[in-house]
Amino acid sequence: MQHQHSGTNREKPTLTLSQGAPVYDTANSETLGPKGPVLLQDVQFIEKMAHFDRERIPERVVHAKGSGAFGVFVPCRSMSEYTCAAFLQNPGEPTRFLIRFSTVIGSKGSADTARDPRGFAVKFYTSEGNYDVVGLSLPVFFIRDAIKFPDFIHSQKPDPCTNLQNYNHIWDFFSLSPESLHQITWLYSDRGIVKDFARMDGFGVNTFIWVNREGKRHYVKYHFLCQEEMDHIDRKEGKRLAGLDPDMAVRALHDRLARGCPIRYEFNVQLMDPERAKELDFDPLDDTKTWPEDLFPLIKVGMLTVNENPSNFFTQIEQAAFCPANIVPGIEFSADKMLQGRIFSYTDTQRYRIGANFAQLPVNRPAFCPHNHQQDGEMAYSNPPGNINYKPNSLDGNAPVEAPAPCYPGMSYPGGCVTRQPVRPTDDFSQARARYLSLCNAEKERMADAIGWELAQADQKIQIRQLDLFAKVCPDLANRVSREIYLFSSRQKD
Ligand code: HEM
Repeated sequence: MQHQHSGTNREKPTLTLSQGAPVYDTANSETLGPKGPVLLQDVQFIEKMAHFDRERIPERVVHAKGSGAFGVFVPCRSMSEYTCAAFLQNPGEPTRFLIRFSTVIGSKGSADTARDPRGFAVKFYTSEGNYDVVGLSLPVFFIRDAIKFPDFIHSQKPDPCTNLQNYNHIWDFFSLSPESLHQITWLYSDRGIVKDFARMDGFGVNTFIWVNREGKRHYVKYHFLCQEEMDHIDRKEGKRLAGLDPDMAVRALHDRLARGCPIRYEFNVQLMDPERAKELDFDPLDDTKTWPEDLFPLIKVGMLTVNENPSNFFTQIEQAAFCPANIVPGIEFSADKMLQGRIFSYTDTQRYRIGANFAQLPVNRPAFCPHNHQQDGEMAYSNPPGNINYKPNSLDGNAPVEAPAPCYPGMSYPGGCVTRQPVRPTDDFSQARARYLSLCNAEKERMADAIGWELAQADQKIQIRQLDLFAKVCPDLANRVSREIYLFSSRQKD
């Protein structure tokens, strides 16, 4: 039933509290007489202020400053030869995406024209779930093992004593980490400062695996090539613009899309047969390396068109959760040690930054309703329906059913194939039998009583299933429990 005051009066909605009660004065707090103190009972004041007091969430631990938009990806060819990912099968079939651009080191209010790689994070809302490419404007990274990432970032972020960026720390770390040299030649080149996200490329940097329906795998690297002339500025110009308009890249993105002028990136991949990796004089899974384009030419996959500003920055951009762990069938993780570490870190920080149920937010949800038994936690909004919240279950037909496993084996490594196997040998009965037989008669009775009392309250088909298992442990156990169930069910015992 519509509340008397909550309806929109045709022209403008009525101002209300969050629970719907109407607010008739939001500019004057309630006082005892016109000059008296403000009253604790002024719930309008308290709600307004208390909600305001909680408006901020932690900024991203890196890539805090940025902006984003929505767009559409359209493949120009089928990539079925290389991957069975659904969104890459059919030329012309569009997939909506969210893209976020960012600087890495500065905090939320920092200037856009710092020398820094730019984040280039794309979330494809595919028919098989979200696929995130969380990349950079430069093709390589500073380190090659995720375990060094906190040290690297500490050396770049403000000094813990002065809270100022410390070039002694930055170069201390670099000079002790020669793997950063290649990235330094990118970062300190003209490409290191960007003032317009439309005029820079994006790279996946890490190596993923594409696998086709026959199980044939390729290593893959992503390139998103901007369709406008690259535009880079030097150190002095960057500093000048930081003073003039610290938000200039964010502004350029917003204003341009608001004018109806989209940004386009050509999506290309480099593919490598893993066998070829052995012939190379560098490790293709090392993210401080690029792959020579004469040996591994760019293959055009399609076009990304960024064309829609967010309708709300906080809900759609600040709370957006990109993560390299979000993959879809046909795409796998390579053993790239940076990628392996990143797979853990992003959702870990998002559970802290946004909350346990961050995946329920509209911007982070897949294009269809996900089905699993995850429930509750802070701000749970859409718990799974029904009361069967576990697997295996027989009470809900074991729903939701597991998807069919790939018909090809997992990636092969010297230690074996990547696989999901039960622990073997199982033998669920021998030790249970020995334990049962070691009990004295009185304890066997008490055990049968305890189990029988609970099982008497379960469905008959469940009782039968459990008694079959007990019979395999020891027929005596099954008989005793069966008798107890009968006594409890027929109310000869309570
Ligand atoms: C092991 C190394 C790395 C770790 C542990 C790491 C960790 C993180 C974390 C914790 C965030 C914040 C996420 C959030 O709060 O939502 C983040 C953001 C980001 N990282 Fe990394 N990162 C690593 C390396 C890289 C590399 C190599 C790239 C590029 C290929 C990259 C690109 C990004 C981007 C683009 C974002 C911002 C995503 C957004 O726009 O929300 N990171 N990273």
